[in-house]
Amino acid sequence: MSRKTFSLLVIPICILSFFISNNFLNNKSQKQMIEQFQPLSYEEADKKADSVLKIMTLDEKISLIGGDRSFFIKPIPRLNLSEVYMTDATQGVHIREKFRDVDLSDYQLEKSTAFPCPLLLSATWNTELSFKYAEAVGEECRAGGTGILLGPGMNIYRHSQCGRNFEYFGEDPFLASRMIENYVKGVQSTGTVATLKHFAANNTDYFRRKSNSIVDERTLHEIYLPAFKAGIDAGAFAVMTSYNLLNDEWCGESEYAINFLLRKQLGFKWLVMTDWWSVYDGEKLAKSGQDLEMPFASALKEAHELSKVGKVKVENIDRMTKSILRTYFAMKLNDRKKEPQYIKKIDEHESVALHTAREGIVLLKNDDNILPLKKDVKNILLYGDYVEKLAVGGGAAFVEGYNNRLMLDELKKEFGDRINFVKNPTAEQIKSADIVLCNVGTDDSEGWDRSFELPESQEKKVLDCVNNNPNTIVIVTSGSGIRMTGWNDRAKAIIYAWYGGQTGNQALAEIISGKINPSGKLPITIEKEFKDSPGYGYVPAGEKLYTGWSNQLEKEHPVFDVNYKEGVFVGYRWYEDKKIEPLYNFGHGLSYTTFEYNDLKISKEKFSESEIVNVSFTIRNSGNISGRETTQLYIQDVESSVPRPLKELKGFKKIELNPGEIKTVELKLSKKDFSFWNPEITNWFAEKGKFIIHIGSSSKDISLNKEIELL
Ligand code: BGC
Repeated sequence: MSRKTFSLLVIPICILSFFISNNFLNNKSQKQMIEQFQPLSYEEADKKADSVLKIMTLDEKISLIGGDRSFFIKPIPRLNLSEVYMTDATQGVHIREKFRDVDLSDYQLEKSTAFPCPLLLSATWNTELSFKYAEAVGEECRAGGTGILLGPGMNIYRHSQCGRNFEYFGEDPFLASRMIENYVKGVQSTGTVATLKHFAANNTDYFRRKSNSIVDERTLHEIYLPAFKAGIDAGAFAVMTSYNLLNDEWCGESEYAINFLLRKQLGFKWLVMTDWWSVYDGEKLAKSGQDLEMPFASALKEAHELSKVGKVKVENIDRMTKSILRTYFAMKLNDRKKEPQYIKKIDEHESVALHTAREGIVLLKNDDNILPLKKDVKNILLYGDYVEKLAVGGGAAFVEGYNNRLMLDELKKEFGDRINFVKNPTAEQIKSADIVLCNVGTDDSEGWDRSFELPESQEKKVLDCVNNNPNTIVIVTSGSGIRMTGWNDRAKAIIYAWYGGQTGNQALAEIISGKINPSGKLPITIEKEFKDSPGYGYVPAGEKLYTGWSNQLEKEHPVFDVNYKEGVFVGYRWYEDKKIEPLYNFGHGLSYTTFEYNDLKISKEKFSESEIVNVSFTIRNSGNISGRETTQLYIQDVESSVPRPLKELKGFKKIELNPGEIKTVELKLSKKDFSFWNPEITNWFAEKGKFIIHIGSSSKDISLNKEIELL
């Protein structure tokens, strides 16, 4: 880069980044104007629940344990128990004027913020941001009088085709856990209940009511349960069970899933609800530890009759009722009304959404430093399906947003007339452009899975671009991994923009122009071919993916097993173990600057189980502009009595550095970080021996390592 281009480009980036982060922090102090909510303790809430339970009739109890009008817990005016409204979901408040034949208009906000999808949030690797994002969602719930948010979703990304990956936090249990605990604290700091969903092992939407996840205990504890455990330990007040069967039982009525895994092993004490229309046997349900059937009593319809013949025990009805009441009192859910003071904060929420997009968009590739675009680039051809409409995730998590920024408009704001949007460019037009911005994406949704491969028409678009112009920059707007193998080598740059919500395209344009230095890192591995992935083979032989809802087809489809045969080897754990080279590694993401890692120090080379291991290293911004780097710590168990992944993420920190600046990063490790789940003792177990601590900028790009020994 010439000195002139450097100063033209770099100085404005530094000033702007500084302004942007400071402005964001100022908003924080304004936010503290609304006091943090304090729930009642379990004991206090239990006492209140007890006193109400004592005076309830059986009919009243039964009316409480089945939902009402699709999204409510039923009111009982005689006891001064008001109704409680619930709303979806993790990426913001889903405004629903009507659901089926239920009019919900009185409970809706005029507008709600469409945040970037949770997978993008996870790509920020910024736990503080997870808190702020969730706090903003919680405040919008308060604005609308919603007591219970039906999120966060946190199912692990077992494979790229799951239609709901965009709603979750990626493939790694440690990263997901750190984001989730902050998310839960953020939502609940506003007095809104967070609902951890969908419990458990709900990792495909392909005939989701019929898939039977066969998962062993160790795998559950190491991969699929940690994010739930983190949410529980952060104080979450609700859990939603899932549609699928887990080891042969529907989760919503499974004693194993609810009483054993969730309540006994993970220690959850509060409200458990079913997913919508997901349970079938009232007798089983009442015994399972489940509390609330949604959207209404269907399996529990005959609860009264069943109780008369002793099939549903009154003590179980009491237990369910009490659990609902306990959560209701602890979170002071009585009489939630629309609260206008929270609506006033909607601009702040939008700035949280924007900040999230700025930090979560991932620059996968940037050959010849083509990005940020140089000032002298004149003719930028823009082409793609999500240029004039937002790419969004569908289903319960859908949020319409307001003030939605379109890609075309945002790029025009940055580049003016140099942007030339052409719907169907000819090869000549593509050839003659200085730069081609080629956008591809997918419409992921709840209810079905979508193919890893792009539809033919979209694949052709990218191929037309990369084949005709070597300066093609591909912008991917998708809620999960897609196949890029056909054109990855020929694209000069690739930006993974996910579903960015209402402000995502602003952040994207700022990254392309260089106002923002990208700092997102992949929370997933992107494979070369779907057959390389650990989840491959889950669709029953001879069947095909479908799109759209069909209750009839789902009813007719037999229950089928999804065998989690890869065990704990999910995501990068799988690719490393099988020595399969993915296209992009977990944790990867480029910046417009460079970073250098040095000086790894570990407090003790030999340590005992009870000791904390302090790890420190330095990181230096060795480039010319300020930037943020997510430093990652992986542990390798050198010798183990059970098969263990080559690396497991056990620490990370996102650091902001000015050019030339050096900072020391400190991370702590404890016994649990070295442990695996041992079914023989039904607990975590740290095996003595040698471990290697790896420090780097992705699961693959490791700069420092050191061996230590557990005595
Ligand atoms: C989804 C849940 C959602 C519920 C209520 C179900 O279809 O699986 O995630 O919270 O609907 O909208």
